[in-house]
Amino acid sequence: SSSAPPPLRRPRPPYEPGRISDPDYVRVFDTTLRDGEQSPGATLTSSEKLEIAKQLAKLGVDVIEAGFPIASPDDFEAVKRIADTVGNAVFEDGYVPVICGLSRANEKDIGRSWDAVKGAVRPRIHTFIATSKIHMESKLNKTPDEVVDIAVKAVEYAKSLGCDDIEFSPEDAGRSDPEFLVRILGEVIKAGATTLNIPDTTGWNMPWEFGGLIRQLKKTVPGADSVIFSTHCQNDLGLSTANSLAGAMNGARQVECTINGIGERAGNAALEEIVMAIALKGDEQFREEGYQGSGRLYTAINHVHITAASRMVAEYTGMTCQPHKAIVGVNAFQHESGIHQDGMIKNKATYEIMTPESIGLMRGESQSGAGIVLGKHSGRNAVSTRLKELGYELDKDKLNAVFARFKEVAEKKKGGLEDDDLEALVTDSAYNTD
Ligand code: KIV
Repeated sequence: SSSAPPPLRRPRPPYEPGRISDPDYVRVFDTTLRDGEQSPGATLTSSEKLEIAKQLAKLGVDVIEAGFPIASPDDFEAVKRIADTVGNAVFEDGYVPVICGLSRANEKDIGRSWDAVKGAVRPRIHTFIATSKIHMESKLNKTPDEVVDIAVKAVEYAKSLGCDDIEFSPEDAGRSDPEFLVRILGEVIKAGATTLNIPDTTGWNMPWEFGGLIRQLKKTVPGADSVIFSTHCQNDLGLSTANSLAGAMNGARQVECTINGIGERAGNAALEEIVMAIALKGDEQFREEGYQGSGRLYTAINHVHITAASRMVAEYTGMTCQPHKAIVGVNAFQHESGIHQDGMIKNKATYEIMTPESIGLMRGESQSGAGIVLGKHSGRNAVSTRLKELGYELDKDKLNAVFARFKEVAEKKKGGLEDDDLEALVTDSAYNTD
């Protein structure tokens, strides 16, 4: 039996830049093709990018950040191809994904992004400039006043091109002075920004700090009610998912993430982790003060396409997930210890908080579909159950003999025993007590 709760998925509200009609809805902004591709060694061809973009649309992401068009002619072409095709297609539930291009805060970058995305039904320009003291002084060599001026001009320029969906990011917001953030964000709202993305660029924040920052900005930035706040959390301390969820809990209504959590350095927040956490726990955790919605957050991600998306991204980028990666690692639904296997055979919800089917992973044929790996920690119940499935009804003495031998072999065999190995143990004449 399996009584893990079904993940929540509800229809997506209509798209409008800067506004979401349902206060419970969290937009998913996927940046696998931009931040994800910035992982060392993860270069993608334009055709691979297009395939991934199609899979992201099938998954139901609201916004696809398709690349950084100024970065290279190839990146420009890839973003344009995605905008002209995926950005014009109607997917499940009648939605058309927003196609976004990243640009530094200057006319050349923004113009290039606009040329790449403008063929989409819903084009978005994303522009950014750093706002932390260390970045402004050491990297940009600009004063805070100059940075505000550049940011405002960038947003105004994007608007002057005819773009009505403009995202602004104060890079390194996680280490910026919150008062300066309030000032610059208020100014870019006046200039026409519709989404304010708050990047914890260096993964420096603790979840309570990042959640507090979102809450404070939502309360104090002039004009905050007319925009959507977004999270963009890097994983340098392994906190990117926790920080993104803390952001959502405190009023962010867009989360930026990548498939398998790929991205600069230690990576970005993993889409599959954020989305499944919201789908399974959204009603228990995420209630902000003064919140007008029902308190049950949701996304429109179609979870059953998660496994396919994860495998595609791993294959095309050459970046395989660690076996214990949450949700999509090969061990995520495998059980080796005897106690766990015994529980799984009795009720799968004893050790699984979601079903593999809910993320599009079909259970192996083995162990009545219980995802059981027969290794050195496995117990008699698991071995006997699998043997029965293979057609071997052993009496007590024979089972004892086979199980003793199984333990000896499993001790030495990394990765566990396959069905062939088990059958060999049973048919081995040394254990044939007849
Ligand atoms: O990490 C970061 O700050 C970014 C921004 C450009 C959003 O990738």
